[in-house]
Amino acid sequence: MSLKTGLEWRYATKKFDNTKKIPADKLEHLLQTVKLAPSSFGLQHYEIVVVEDPAVRERLKEASYGQSQLTDASQVIVFAVETNIDEDYVKAYIDEMASARGVKREDLSGFEQYVLGSVSRLSREENINWAKKQAYIALGVLISSASELQIDSCPMEGFEADKYDEILGLKEKGLTATVMATIGYRSDEDPYANMAKVRKSDKDLFIRI
Ligand SMILES: Cc1cc2nc3c(=O)[nH]c(=O)nc-3n(C[C@H](O)[C@H](O)[C@H](O)COP(=O)(O)O)c2cc1C
Repeated sequence: MSLKTGLEWRYATKKFDNTKKIPADKLEHLLQTVKLAPSSFGLQHYEIVVVEDPAVRERLKEASYGQSQLTDASQVIVFAVETNIDEDYVKAYIDEMASARGVKREDLSGFEQYVLGSVSRLSREENINWAKKQAYIALGVLISSASELQIDSCPMEGFEADKYDEILGLKEKGLTATVMATIGYRSDEDPYANMAKVRKSDKDLFIRI
């Protein structure tokens, strides 16, 4: 299936079939695809929490205004962004880059100084906001690649981040929940599955210069 056909097929699933589970190999394929999402400087300013535990999901549902996707989907995928994007974080990334590319650490010092300059120019809050933008790119990759695999999903930001941080133990890891997606298979009873897509007309969406 082409990506366009997948995106035509997908919709923000409101009602999942709670008897259907994504096979382990498909889930792994999906997660490995999300891992390839681009991020500013490649810093991957987030971690991705895959929640399956039914008791935890029950608590997440309460912190998500009771939305049923939290407990009916196959998995809940939470994008939690780094709250401490600092010198140490950047240095660890440069270490990783030197090792992955087999280059000398000192050969990367120009790039390192450039990244450090960008990070230090921003306040802690601004760095977190920057990180959140990266998480949304990964969310887009998740939703798109799920559609190619005919896995249903619902991107979601209707939840109380503070409560998620507490339930998932994110604060002590230097993370905060930003956005999530529930993934699985649509229920035959989801009326949203057959609704026409509402999108801007080409004229209103594309500015061609
Ligand atoms: C960032 C983001 C957050 C969303 N949050 C929720 C949510 O909390 N609950 C929900 O049911 N749908 C949520 N949606 C789904 C949108 O309402 C849906 O994508 C939009 O209406 C377009 O419909 P479609 O995706 O079915 O084409 C969210 C979508 C995005 C992209």
